[in-house]
Amino acid sequence: MVVHVFDTPAQVAQAAAAVIAAQVLQKPDSVLGLATGSTPMDTYRELISLHRGGVLDFSRVKSYNLDEYVGLPAGHPESYVSFMKRNLFDHINIGSYSLPDGSARDLQRECESYEQAIRDDGGIDLQLLGIGNNGHIGFNEPGKAFTYSTNLTTLAQSTIDANKRFFDSIDQVPRQALSMGIGTIMEARSILLLALGEAKAQAVYQMIRGPITPRVPASILRGHARVTVMLDKAAAARL
Ligand code: F6R
Repeated sequence: MVVHVFDTPAQVAQAAAAVIAAQVLQKPDSVLGLATGSTPMDTYRELISLHRGGVLDFSRVKSYNLDEYVGLPAGHPESYVSFMKRNLFDHINIGSYSLPDGSARDLQRECESYEQAIRDDGGIDLQLLGIGNNGHIGFNEPGKAFTYSTNLTTLAQSTIDANKRFFDSIDQVPRQALSMGIGTIMEARSILLLALGEAKAQAVYQMIRGPITPRVPASILRGHARVTVMLDKAAAARL
């Protein structure tokens, strides 16, 4: 695990965009794993500006997002597909993108076909991750065992609390999501995890310095051969 600490969130975004840009330049038909949330938003802005400047061509890139809420229609502004369109896909020439379908009638089958689609595309070259205040990655919440493949997950109360900022009231935050599993994430050929702000400092500390345990799902990343972690000073405060 390579850990970089930057002075500002803007520097994290620039460095993260540089890694993603290098991936796409070196392998124009890369399969990218993408994340939603506040953390990657500036990174996406950097990628959009590289694309607009004629530096990055995404036309052969395929992407798979980590997760999607269950119970929000795809057109809802806070669905993750809406988020991704607004913050990235509508502004670049992405070849194709996929998110799990949280409105699918058969959620179990949707999980299986999402997993299969990633495999059929040759697996993920670079997976971008944020980290939850509770150490989750994707929506793999702290628990007794690591999840393997894409699964239907129930959000932890701390995740519902953290995500209520995107909704008018806490009652509107979905309680369930479809998420890539820890196994899906660990199969990515390389991983880039970003964390910003003091609210992440404890989770970052546990990921890097604590025991490898399903109680801190991100801690498993220490068992992956190619993980880069980019932090701002606040997120690195406890290291
Ligand atoms: C998002 C995801 C989550 C977030 C995490 C951090 O697709 O899977 O694991 O990365 O909850 O969220 P933010 O960036 O909003 O702090």
